[in-house]
Amino acid sequence: MKLFVDTADLQEIRTLASWGILAGVTTNPTLLARAGARDVRQHIVEICEIVQGPVSMEVVATDTEGMVREAREYASWHPNVVVKIPITEAGLAAIRILAQEGIRVNTTLIFNPVQALYAALAGATYVSPFLGRLDDIATEGMTLVREIVTMFRNDPDIHTQVLAASLRHPRHIVEAAKAGADIATAPPAVLKKALHHPLTDIGLERFLADWRRLQEGQA
Ligand code: E4P
Repeated sequence: MKLFVDTADLQEIRTLASWGILAGVTTNPTLLARAGARDVRQHIVEICEIVQGPVSMEVVATDTEGMVREAREYASWHPNVVVKIPITEAGLAAIRILAQEGIRVNTTLIFNPVQALYAALAGATYVSPFLGRLDDIATEGMTLVREIVTMFRNDPDIHTQVLAASLRHPRHIVEAAKAGADIATAPPAVLKKALHHPLTDIGLERFLADWRRLQEGQA
């Protein structure tokens, strides 16, 4: 399973990219606002220069014509830009047009498996089930990921990738991989938290202390 980071914070993206774990980035209007991206085009292009992989940029139009117009514009910014389109009636019609033009779409705000199937049939490159938001309302979000993965695997004509989104904690990364998701996108804090373990810290302290003792004994 590949890992994307769900943020528009350039410093966080640089740090995580330096670890060699990032295959892409997902943004949304909330994340761009949080990062204070004044010139959105420049900001997205900067992200594309840090991470060599798909970078999702979301449309804000709600009608098909507006979505397609925005999508063409965003896709022209950089070859790695993937356009995020919400799963609505207008969104599906937009996905179909964009897929025919070869513009890659990440279908966002997926909360049931049939929404994912519709997006795939319309030609989306990615579907993003929001598992954390389902967990937030006492529903098992990972079940949705599992169902979509099974449905897609059962149909050899579907090549759409499952991008598990809205992850809340490191365990979600493990479960998404076990469920067969192609990609998981997680906030920087979740990716960082997953790296740390108290036994790693204690183990390292002991190794260093023993090394120091050995050096002192040799002096
Ligand atoms: C995915 O592409 C979305 O940007 C994101 O995962 C939403 O996560 P949230 O539920 O934490 O806002």
